[in-house]
Amino acid sequence: APTVKVALLGFGTVGSSVAKLLSVQKFPGIELTHVYNRNVARKRESEAAKFVPKTAVWTEDVNVVLNSDVDVVIELMGGMIPAEGWLRKAIASGKSVVTANKQLIAYKGAALAKLAAVNGVQLVYGAAVAGGVPVIPGLAQGLGGDQITRISGIVNGTCNYILTRMETGADYSTVLADAQALGYAESDPSADVDGYDARAKLCILSRIAMHAELNPDDVTTQSIADVDAIDFAYAKELNCTIRQVSSARVAGSLIQARVAPMLVPLASPMAWSHGTQNMVVASGRFGGDVVFSGHGAGGEPTAVAVVSDLLAVAQGSHAVQLPVRKRNVTGEFMASHYVR
Ligand code: HSE
Repeated sequence: APTVKVALLGFGTVGSSVAKLLSVQKFPGIELTHVYNRNVARKRESEAAKFVPKTAVWTEDVNVVLNSDVDVVIELMGGMIPAEGWLRKAIASGKSVVTANKQLIAYKGAALAKLAAVNGVQLVYGAAVAGGVPVIPGLAQGLGGDQITRISGIVNGTCNYILTRMETGADYSTVLADAQALGYAESDPSADVDGYDARAKLCILSRIAMHAELNPDDVTTQSIADVDAIDFAYAKELNCTIRQVSSARVAGSLIQARVAPMLVPLASPMAWSHGTQNMVVASGRFGGDVVFSGHGAGGEPTAVAVVSDLLAVAQGSHAVQLPVRKRNVTGEFMASHYVR
């Protein structure tokens, strides 16, 4: 059976979790063959290095990956430069790309998708929005038959983590430091708190759901850094709390889009979203509201989306049939719990 050879660009929080998921689950036909990172010596000593196959090549030179025969490049470095140039080269040399790079996909996703189509490879970025919550495949496939008129929700785990802890009295700078230590925040956390991460995700969702190409710079964005403890007290008097809400809705031939800390009623599902839990509500003209919810940040939830994308690419482009894992059915659970 053909093997799909996979390279990881970036062995940080998400990259090492991808290696773990591949190693623990042993998907047949998928082989991690290359790991690119700066300072490979330090990465090889990390706890997660044990999840990388002994046969894999570790390198600090991306050309080793780009000139190799890998089939799929997984990009988890983030940022526009050098990621864009490297992915263009990967695509031009016939490699499919899986990426979680929100900024790159928000600004350049359409151009990269065109390049991928011309080269007959795939570009998938399900991990770019809401980590382990399948919002992108849900909107693209599951709701492709509806006409989405509005997308609204919580798409930044770090802000949600900060705000939900401030709700119970913690102070801003302490919880921001915790979010960084837990691997939720971007390397520059202002991308999170000032809303640049969320607006990139909102633009990606608008593309998928509403077929609208928005420039992230055009999205009105307000920081959560100005939210104080006292604001939560005022919000509570109104039976509300505060969340960073991102929303985009069709308004005639335009899209109204913004990211800002907003009052949300305590009785609304958005108020129940705690910690890194993201929530996206898609409003369809025909099917009504659909809610997506789950962990939107952190290594393993995000790695789930990356690996799911990888499996989809592997099945699509190389006709690799992932064998069904046979499980025998047992009636025990039903017998003991339901049948008396
Ligand atoms: N920093 C991002 C967040 C990571 O907190 O949501 C996931 O994109």
